[in-house]
Amino acid sequence: MATRFVAPSCESQFLQQSFQERLSHWNRQRLAPAYPDDWEERFRQDEVILRLEHGFIEELRAQIRDRAAQAPTDPDGFIHWFEDLEQSGPGQHDPLFPWLAEQAERDEIRWFLTQEAAGEAGFDDLVAMTQVKLPDSPKLELARNYWDEMGRGNEKGMHGPMLAQLVTTLDLSPSIEATAWESLALANAMTAMATQRCYAWHSVGALGVIELTAPGRSAHTARALRRIGLSQSERRYFDLHAVLDVKHSRDWNELAIKPAVAEDPRRATAIAEGALIRLTCGDRCFNRYRSHFGLERR
Ligand SMILES: [Fe+2]
Ligand SMILES: [Fe+2]
Repeated sequence: MATRFVAPSCESQFLQQSFQERLSHWNRQRLAPAYPDDWEERFRQDEVILRLEHGFIEELRAQIRDRAAQAPTDPDGFIHWFEDLEQSGPGQHDPLFPWLAEQAERDEIRWFLTQEAAGEAGFDDLVAMTQVKLPDSPKLELARNYWDEMGRGNEKGMHGPMLAQLVTTLDLSPSIEATAWESLALANAMTAMATQRCYAWHSVGALGVIELTAPGRSAHTARALRRIGLSQSERRYFDLHAVLDVKHSRDWNELAIKPAVAEDPRRATAIAEGALIRLTCGDRCFNRYRSHFGLERR
């Protein structure tokens, strides 16, 4: 039976279970390949929820804008600031991960991965949507990254199905209703930034900071999976990202972010905001997961 999460008592109309579920369902529906039926009803719905989606991102932006404004806008200074987020960014080196690696029980790891799987927006599609009309160098780097997501043309190497296989192996049943709003909000924020073109550079920052910070989390998760007896092939998704994303991050920063900022320094601030929005969403998830597991807050 699915667990339903109670919305927190906070002022925001967006940081709520009901709103995030609604946005998740809308994203699932609107991004699915479909047919031109019921277009009138769809346009009506889209108009309302697009405004809400924009409001949601603006609220997240308002929370991190001051910090993002401190990021240097020259290419080298900016990359230095961006890479420092691995150490100093919100939610980085959260004690949740060593706990998962060393102590969590199988069902606790399964719960954690169910949340993460339901909140997964599909990195490959986010990259694909973000690259539209980007300048050549960032576009080429996003293409290379996308090709890796596609297993370089080999179906068995595609990252999305690799994660889906882990969900099957662990017999997980991810669903929107059984997922904490914090996790839905993370996926919804990523989708909003990748689809609304006014946030294209935010999306470049948010995706880049995933590459920057995923190796640490993936290595801990891979250790957790090994400890509960999963084989090398079964835990491949996390083993792979613990290593490959180190290279992805280096290339993204050097070949997507740096030339983009050199061409227009305003992009530095947008990229910084996107990265901080993503990390803040992640931080909310880790807090929620720790409180679910009864772990002390930091
Ligand atoms: Fe990947
Ligand atoms: Fe990657």
